[in-house]
Amino acid sequence: MTMPQSVTAATGLDALCHNTEAYLSAGANVITDSAALEGVRLVVDNLERAFTDGSDRPAREAMSLGALLGGIALAARMVYGHSVGYTVATRFNLPHGVSCGIPLPYIISNYALACAPKMKRLAEAYGVDGGEDPVELGVAVGEKVTRLVSKLRLPTTLKELGVKESELSALADECIKLYYRPNSPVVFDEKSMAHFYRMMWNGELAPRRE
Ligand SMILES: [Fe+2]
Repeated sequence: MTMPQSVTAATGLDALCHNTEAYLSAGANVITDSAALEGVRLVVDNLERAFTDGSDRPAREAMSLGALLGGIALAARMVYGHSVGYTVATRFNLPHGVSCGIPLPYIISNYALACAPKMKRLAEAYGVDGGEDPVELGVAVGEKVTRLVSKLRLPTTLKELGVKESELSALADECIKLYYRPNSPVVFDEKSMAHFYRMMWNGELAPRRE
């Protein structure tokens, strides 16, 4: 109940990342998906409330449960959101949840095509009504996450974070080499990862449809 606002924001975003990345992982199963979808619902409905008023007991309780469900969903393993997070956390000395929260909207929109059959349920858990097209759903969910990150007074792009344009390709290479994810349904090579870093730097959510 006395956890500071900045820690509430960072740990809450990490819980959202665990639930979402686990759901998008090729290692997901019915148990991790059930935990992840309910975990997303709880975090999306309660993180801003817990951030705004730390004494909001129902919101704190819901966030605790959402974080626990994210811990269960972690059995599916994380995808590249956490990898990107590691590359920027080490350079900018960021709290883990902040470094993973910044890439999350872009992960969702860029995984939408590879996870097409699962996007409708993910969008529902996020409270997004965005039609049937998986990529449009992914972008709409990504926009919702971006708004949430802004409300938590955190940067939403790598440019805002202070990453230099000249550093993007080195970060992309490091991401693949040091933090490779065999369970990622999206396979990145050096070129596509560099493109992904540029999207996160520019704040572009809409992926290439290829
Ligand atoms: Fe994490």
